[in-house]
Amino acid sequence: MDYNNRDSRVYREHDDASLRDIPLVKDKADNWEGYDTVFIGYPIWWGIAAWPVDTFVKHNDFSGKTVIPFATSASSGLGDSGRQLQQMAGTGNWLEGKRFPSNVSESTVQQWVQSLNL
Ligand SMILES: Cc1cc2nc3c(=O)[nH]c(=O)nc-3n(C[C@H](O)[C@H](O)[C@H](O)COP(=O)(O)O)c2cc1C
Repeated sequence: MDYNNRDSRVYREHDDASLRDIPLVKDKADNWEGYDTVFIGYPIWWGIAAWPVDTFVKHNDFSGKTVIPFATSASSGLGDSGRQLQQMAGTGNWLEGKRFPSNVSESTVQQWVQSLNL
């Protein structure tokens, strides 16, 4: 995870996308059909969504669901990260989403969720 170390795993995966196909411990949610809104949260890595989340996005069908990406980062914005995940998913009604600083407070996140009027 040391992105200042060229020999670290995350650095090698960043340089070679073929190394990123990381199986998640779990990429299916229980009672998936029971949800009509899905939040996809991730840290920003080198300007994009941390790639372990790719597997979850690729392995689930978002048809008929509203999908809201959100991220934490040190300073980068959300950028194209949400749109890239949307393309990987291929299904779902994806909203613009939101980036938070990594030390965001719980109340700030709660206010954002309430402002969505879901
Ligand atoms: C491999 C790696 C790459 C990162 N790249 C960025 C980046 O491009 N821009 C940025 O603002 N923060 C970057 N960060 C900082 C993370 O986004 C930040 O640590 C995370 O959102 C906060 O989660 P944490 O508290 O679990 O670390 C990076 C962190 C790691 C580990």
